[in-house]
Amino acid sequence: RPKILILVSGEGSNLQALIEASRERDYPADIVAVGSNQAKAPALAKAAHANIPTFVIEHGRYGSRDEFDGALMQEIRRHNPDLIVLAGFMRILTEGFVRALRGQLLNIHPSLLPKYTGLNTHQRALNAGDKLHGVSVHFVTEELDGGPIVAQAQIAVGADDSAETLAQKVQAQEHVLYPIVVRWCCEGRVQLGAEQVLFDGQALHQPLVL
Ligand code: GAR
Repeated sequence: RPKILILVSGEGSNLQALIEASRERDYPADIVAVGSNQAKAPALAKAAHANIPTFVIEHGRYGSRDEFDGALMQEIRRHNPDLIVLAGFMRILTEGFVRALRGQLLNIHPSLLPKYTGLNTHQRALNAGDKLHGVSVHFVTEELDGGPIVAQAQIAVGADDSAETLAQKVQAQEHVLYPIVVRWCCEGRVQLGAEQVLFDGQALHQPLVL
């Protein structure tokens, strides 16, 4: 069975959604470990509560990004996962790290990429007057939030929405979308090809939309 390792920094609501999905009888993978760069991340308690092994690599203890990523890579290799799922992991990974794990690293980002890479995505969508907003799941490549997109879920932006209400609506979609995309990856239906995402062996010219 494919093994998943999940990296977190914060609340872990996406982690919780993945834990619940992985408990479904026909889910095709096991979560073997959860790692965090934040010792106090509430996500760690959620993992422990589900009896999933956890580890912490605190970035403050390392002198450089390379050292941090080296320590993280060592932990990852120890668990030998097939897929590494970033679920609210708020550290930028080095090029070498990302290249070594090409096709095995998934990220979820709270915008309709390529719009709004980086932070404050909900406020930026509001400021731009966007009528549609949402979430993207993509393979991680050297380009920040720029790797090939597998799938997106959209929400409508209402006249009375704030950054907070948008965050809630987007997160509700995240919790549906991420378990589905992770499932497809573990079933081998979604793969990263030379330049684009392959879905059932065919190049995906546009993200799938939920
Ligand atoms: C999620 O909304 C995720 O999209 C976002 O952080 C949140 C984590 O929530 N990720 C990023 O902004 C990545 N740059 P969670 O800890 O409750 O899953």
